[in-house]
Order: sequence, then C-alpha cells, then structure tokens
Amino acid sequence: MLRIHDLHSSYGLAEVLSGISMEVPDGTLVAVMGRNGMGKTTLCRSIMGLAPPVVSGGEIECNGTALGGLPAYRRAQLGIGYVPQGRHVFTSLNVVENLTVAARSEENGNEPWDLDRVWELFPRLAERKTHRAGQLSGGEQQMLAIARALMTNPGLLVMDEPSEGLAPVLVETLAERLHDLKSSALSILLVEQNLSLALRLADVVYVVENGGIVFHGTPAELDGSEEIKRRHLGVGV
Ligand SMILES: Nc1ncnc2c1ncn2[C@@H]1O[C@H](COP(=O)(O)OP(=O)(O)O)[C@@H](O)[C@H]1O
Ligand SMILES: [Mg+2]
Repeated sequence: MLRIHDLHSSYGLAEVLSGISMEVPDGTLVAVMGRNGMGKTTLCRSIMGLAPPVVSGGEIECNGTALGGLPAYRRAQLGIGYVPQGRHVFTSLNVVENLTVAARSEENGNEPWDLDRVWELFPRLAERKTHRAGQLSGGEQQMLAIARALMTNPGLLVMDEPSEGLAPVLVETLAERLHDLKSSALSILLVEQNLSLALRLADVVYVVENGGIVFHGTPAELDGSEEIKRRHLGVGV
C-alpha cells in the first residue's frame, strides 16, 4: 500500500528525517513510535505532501504511484486519509457538517463510507450530530477527526497520535474502534506514543529516533527488547 524509501525531509537547513525507509503492506496496521521531537509528525506531513517540511530526497509510493511532487489534494484523491495530531476539526461546524465537507464519492473497491456507517462505528457521534465540533469533548473530537478522514474513503489512513490527551477509558474505546477499522481492509499507519496501544494493534512496529529508524519488528519483538524500550521509548526510566 505504502512504500517509503530513503526519505529525507528538512525545515530550512535543519534535516529532520535522514533516510527513513518503511512499508505498510495492504490491510495491515503499522505503528510508528518514538519520543517527542523525533520526526513522527514530519514523516506524516511528508507522506501527505504538506509543507513544511520540504522533502529533499527519497521516494514515497502509494499503491504503485510515486507521490513525489504531487500536491496534498492529489494524494488525498489517491486514497490517503489523514488524522492530524491535535485533531483540527472545524470547531464552528456541527458534526454532520464536519463529515459532509470531507465526503468524497470516488471509491477504492472497499465498502464506501457514509453517515450511517459512521454512526454505526461511532454511536456517540450520532447522538451529537447537530452539536458544533467545538462543544465536543476531546475524545469525541478525536472520533470526529477519524470519521472525517474515513468519509474520504481512504485505502490508507495516516493517524498522528490519536490517543494523545485522552483519558484511559477513551483510549480503550479508541483501541476498539481501531481494531474494527483494521478488520475492514483499510491499511493504517498509526503514530503512537502509547506503547500498550501500539503493541496491541500493530502488525509491525517501527521506532524512530532523531529522524532515523532504530527498530523495526513485530510487537512481540519490541516488547521483548527492554533495551529499545528503555533507550528509545523511555519505558521504565
Ligand atoms: N514547522 C517547523 N519548523 C521548524 N522545525 C520544526 C517544525 N516542525 C517540527 N520541527 C522540528 O522537527 C523535529 C521533529 O518534529 P516532529 O516531526 O514534530 O516530531 P514528533 O512528531 O516526533 O514529536 C523537532 O526538532 C521539531 O522541533
Ligand atoms: Mg508529532
């Protein structure tokens, strides 16, 4: 679904990603972990074609199409949905409006998303249909941000720290919804700092440190590697 080879990205003269290579095979959930400031959001923005940063080298391919140089809206049309860090829902629009501005009729072979399917996945949003997004709780806004991305009928969903700032009970709800999405043939690139969430959902985990990959393996391999967890994820420090 997604293949990244030797990606370099910079802000001005500061190179933040220095040779990232990774893959998200069809229908899998790949987690990207790493501490704050290590380049996770920069990676997401590079995939989405959002500037800054400037991509200064390497290749990104989605479903065999090279994304290099394509503007963000073309990448969205190619079926890449984005849930940015911090949600960024349209606070003055209500729930339905947030979803319908994003809706896209093109299909990718998977079952298309519409409001009914969103209400089924997120019953809480159905109860809040006419509420302005700015009035929703943090957890509800996160669900709305995910639902908004789904309404574009993505084949690949890029999510940047969706559990950030959520109470444990909401992280649990999020985990269940991501598990549902995983079984729906969607491919997911999940940036997460919540280790147990990533270990539970991911097929493969990558750990980034200072703009490079320092680990890549199964959740079980990561869980068994005390050294990686301590040095690069700050676990048990
Ligand atoms: N718009 C920007 N301009 C300059 N530097 C930035 C910008 N955004 C992020 N950075 C820097 O790039 C590095 C990686 O940031 P980021 O990708 O946001 O990390 P993460 O998402 O892993 O916390 C950090 O050193 C950060 O300060
Ligand atoms: Mg970030």
